[in-house]
Amino acid sequence: MTAPADQPDPAAGLPLEPRPAVRLLIDRETLQERVGELGAEVRADYEGVEPILVSVLRGGVVFLADLVRAAAMPCRADFMAISRFDASEDTGVVRIEKDLDLDLSGAHVLVVEDIVDTGLTLTYLLRVLAARGPASLRVCALLDKRARRIVDVPLSYVGFEVPDVFLVGYGLDLDERERGRSELLAVDDLDAVRADPALLDQAARADAPRRPAAG
Ligand code: IMP
Ligand code: MG
Repeated sequence: MTAPADQPDPAAGLPLEPRPAVRLLIDRETLQERVGELGAEVRADYEGVEPILVSVLRGGVVFLADLVRAAAMPCRADFMAISRFDASEDTGVVRIEKDLDLDLSGAHVLVVEDIVDTGLTLTYLLRVLAARGPASLRVCALLDKRARRIVDVPLSYVGFEVPDVFLVGYGLDLDERERGRSELLAVDDLDAVRADPALLDQAARADAPRRPAAG
């Protein structure tokens, strides 16, 4: 907490507590509860139409795997892999590295995304998918980093709005690792975490019940 500007800061002159390099943002239980709610919403909205859930590799697969089980409904799932066409430009143009196997024409398509950041990739992807003639095309995003949005992209389902900080876990990677974590961590100091990955484990355990030290 910061003191109001017109009052002396009581912490002034005291050594500042170092900002943690990484902190727990959303714990496992909170994630699972919200995914359960999203699954129930999707099941109700798509009753009787057997949608195709489209997941974008690789980050989206963890969320998709939990969402299909939470929805527990007749549906198909398909995957595509994309990469930025030109990493130096924020055009959102992507190269399709692996295309879908299913035909989308006449199908109700729900794109299941881990996180929407600038929205550039998703906007491009939606244009590509819309051209295939689906009966409907909507997006379910677990995380919405809205502060970073460059293009407005309509999201039908959002799990959580998240701050503009680098996130790791639950599908999101740090240098292609850490996708299997059941919780979501916010990394404020990437260099520190790269130098000492154990910081991630410590942060992940931050909400664990504290036990008195043995002895
Ligand atoms: P954008 O919306 O086109 O900027 O791209 C979103 C993609 O960037 C997501 O699908 C993720 O793969 C990746 N991404 C965005 N923010 C993060 C993050 O905080 N951690 C890890 N990957 C991220
Ligand atoms: Mg993604």
